[in-house]
Amino acid sequence: FKVPEPVNEPVRGYAPGSPERASVKKRLEEMSNQVYEIPLIIGGKEIKTGKFGESVMPHNHKHVLARYHLADASHVEQAIAASQEAWKTWSEMPWHERAGVFLKAAELLAGPWRDTINAATMLGQAKTIQQAEIDAACELIDFLRFNVHYMTRLFEDQPYSPKPTWNRVEHRALEGFIFAVTPFNFTAIGGNLCCAPAMMGNVVLWKPSDTAVYSNYFVMRLLEEAGLPPGVINFIPGPPAEIGAATMARPELAGVHFTGSTGTFQYLWKTVGENIEKYHAYPRVVGETGGKDFVFAHESAEPVALANALVRGAFEYSGQKCSAASRAYVPTNIWPEVKKLLGEYLAEAKTGDVADFSNFTSAVIDKRSFDKSSAYLAHARESSEAEILFGGEADDSVGYFVQPTVIETHNPHYKSMVEEIFGPILTVYPYDPAKLDETLELCDKTSPYALTGAVWAKERGTIVKLTNALKHAAGNFYVNDRPTGSIVGQQPFGGGRASGTNDKAGSMLNLLKWTSVRSIKENF
Ligand code: SER
Repeated sequence: FKVPEPVNEPVRGYAPGSPERASVKKRLEEMSNQVYEIPLIIGGKEIKTGKFGESVMPHNHKHVLARYHLADASHVEQAIAASQEAWKTWSEMPWHERAGVFLKAAELLAGPWRDTINAATMLGQAKTIQQAEIDAACELIDFLRFNVHYMTRLFEDQPYSPKPTWNRVEHRALEGFIFAVTPFNFTAIGGNLCCAPAMMGNVVLWKPSDTAVYSNYFVMRLLEEAGLPPGVINFIPGPPAEIGAATMARPELAGVHFTGSTGTFQYLWKTVGENIEKYHAYPRVVGETGGKDFVFAHESAEPVALANALVRGAFEYSGQKCSAASRAYVPTNIWPEVKKLLGEYLAEAKTGDVADFSNFTSAVIDKRSFDKSSAYLAHARESSEAEILFGGEADDSVGYFVQPTVIETHNPHYKSMVEEIFGPILTVYPYDPAKLDETLELCDKTSPYALTGAVWAKERGTIVKLTNALKHAAGNFYVNDRPTGSIVGQQPFGGGRASGTNDKAGSMLNLLKWTSVRSIKENF
C-alpha cells in the first residue's frame, strides 16, 4: 500500500472581510459563550469523577471556558486496563488500517474541525489567530500526514537476504502503554505525542497540561470522530504528581513521550530509573524540554531582516514557544540601527484580547508564568547591569498581559541572558566585532540547553564559521532566519544537551522509538 504523498497544509491568512475570518470569529463567539463540561475519556467512555479543574481564558482570567473532571490513581488503573484491552486488536491491525484513522483526522481538521480547534487554542491558550492556525491546524495536520508517510518508509526498509534465506524485520508495537505528558504551548504537540506512538500500533495514556485541557479535549474528540477505536488513546487530565506516580509505577509502562519543563522530564526519567526492576521491558524515554534559544549576528548581518527576525522569533506567542529567541548577540557596528528598528516595530505591536485580530500578542498562559516574567522585569529595572529598552510593563488585572520587552546588558552572564524565562523577554548583549571568537564561545557555553539558534551573516566563509562554532549549541539551527517556526516535513524538531533526547518530532527518528523490531531469519 502507498499512502497519499504528504504536503504541508497551506496556512490561511484570515484577511479582513474573508469568509474564513467570519467563520472562525463566529466559532470563537459561540465557544466563549458556553461553559463546557469535560469528562475523562477511558476506553471510549466518558467518565465523570465529580472533582473539577477549571479552564479559563489567560487573557480574561475570570472567564471560565470549561470545568474538567480530574482523574486520580484509580482512573489511571482503569485507563491502563482499557488500553491493554485495546492493544490486543490495535497492535495487530494492519498498519494501513491504522493509518486511515490519522489521515482522516488530518482531513477533518483541515475542514470541518479547523475552526473549533483553532478557537479552542485561541481561547484556552491565548493564541492569536495566526499562531493558532500554524499550530493547532497546520502543524497538527502536518504531523499526522507526514508521520503516516514516514511510517510507511520505515516499514519498507528491509534487510538483505542471501539465497536461500529470507531475512525480514517485523515492526511490533511495544508491549504495554505509552504515557504521553503534553504541554500547553502547542496543541499540535499534544496531538502528536499521542498519535505518533498510536499509529505505530501502541496504546496511550494522555495526561494533557492543566492549561491545555480545553483544546486537547477537542483533539481527542476529533480523533474519535476519525475512527480511533476505544482505549487506544485515553484522556486523563488530573493532578500531575498523582497521575505521574500511579502511571510510572506500573509494569506495563512501555514508554514516556514528553514535552515540557526540564524539571518534570528529569523527575520522569528518575522515576523510570527507580522503578526499573518492575517493568516488563525497558521503557523508551523521549522528551523535549527547555531552551535558552539564541540569535547570533555577525557584523555583516542585514539589520532590517535581523530586527524583524528578532521581533518575530522572540515575541510571537509571547515568547512561549520552546524555540523562542531569548538571548541575542549583536555586534556594536549594527546595534544602534537594529535597536532603532526594534523600537519602531514594537511601537506597532499591540498586546490584548485574541478576539481582536490586529493584536500581535496576547496574554501569557497563567499566573505562575506572569509572575515569573514580572520578576525578570523587576530585576532588570533595579539592576545596574540591565536596561529595559522597550516594553517592561505587566498587568494581570484582567488577563496575564506582559508587554514584549527588550533588555540590553553588557554582562553576557546577566540573569535574563542565561536563565530560561518562557515569556516575552529578549535580552541583547552588544559585542565588539573584534571579539567574534570569544563571543561565539560565550554563546556556546552560556546555557546548558541546545534547542534552537540562528546565525546571521552575509558571506559563505562566515556562515560556515558560525555554523561550525555552534555545532552542538542547537538541534534546530537557522541561517539568516528566526529560530522559530519549524515546519513538519521540512525541519524535524528537537534539541540536545539539556533540551531533550533529540528524537526529532515529525520524523522517522521519533517513530523508531515506538517500535520493537523482531528480526526474522527463515531458511528455505
Ligand atoms: N516547532 C516549534 C517552532 O519551531 C516549537 O515547538 O517554533
